[in-house]
Amino acid sequence: MTVWMTKTFFRAVPFALLAAFLVGGCQPAGSPVAGDPPLTGARIGGPFTLTGGDGKRHASSEFAGRYTLVYFGYSYCPDVCPVDLLHLMNGLKLFERQDPARAAKVQPLFITVDPERDTPDAVAKFAAQFHPRLLGLTGTPDEIARVAKAYLVSYRKVPGTTPDSYLMAHTQLAYLMGPDGQPVALIPTDDVRSPGNEGDPKLVAAELAKWVK
Ligand code: NI
Repeated sequence: MTVWMTKTFFRAVPFALLAAFLVGGCQPAGSPVAGDPPLTGARIGGPFTLTGGDGKRHASSEFAGRYTLVYFGYSYCPDVCPVDLLHLMNGLKLFERQDPARAAKVQPLFITVDPERDTPDAVAKFAAQFHPRLLGLTGTPDEIARVAKAYLVSYRKVPGTTPDSYLMAHTQLAYLMGPDGQPVALIPTDDVRSPGNEGDPKLVAAELAKWVK
């Protein structure tokens, strides 16, 4: 291919299409795998009732019969949470392109560990940046403490230079929970399994494709 042809090719291909191709949008999703998922029998999760970014109360029972993809973090997080959510939600979007019917069964949830600053409005605005279906959840400090404990997530305040500029140190985990509310698998938030593939949503999509039936 000559330089001229290469340039023409890249000008002619709309960027959105090219981007979809580069993240593997043309690959079909893998089939669900047989056997017990990795978190089978683990004591993780449990019922909760929290306040959504929509201002309504949401009980875990409303997600019965569907999968949930649960990530804990906080909207003021300067680095880790936004990067994790970008990976996770790009992975979910990829799975949606590969297998819309199965992906529709996955409800992504973002639960804050910073209920003091993360009002319903704050979690709504934050969640909307990553996926149109990502539901941000907040609650009273007690409600958050309980749900975090149930999901084995710990967090603590790290004071900043002003009372409002504190950080939250927190466990960095994403869970796929099953239609019965039981834990299914950890979803890779980081890139540890595939060095050099920062931001690659394929790992997330592949893990979802393995377990969502
Ligand atoms: Ni964070």
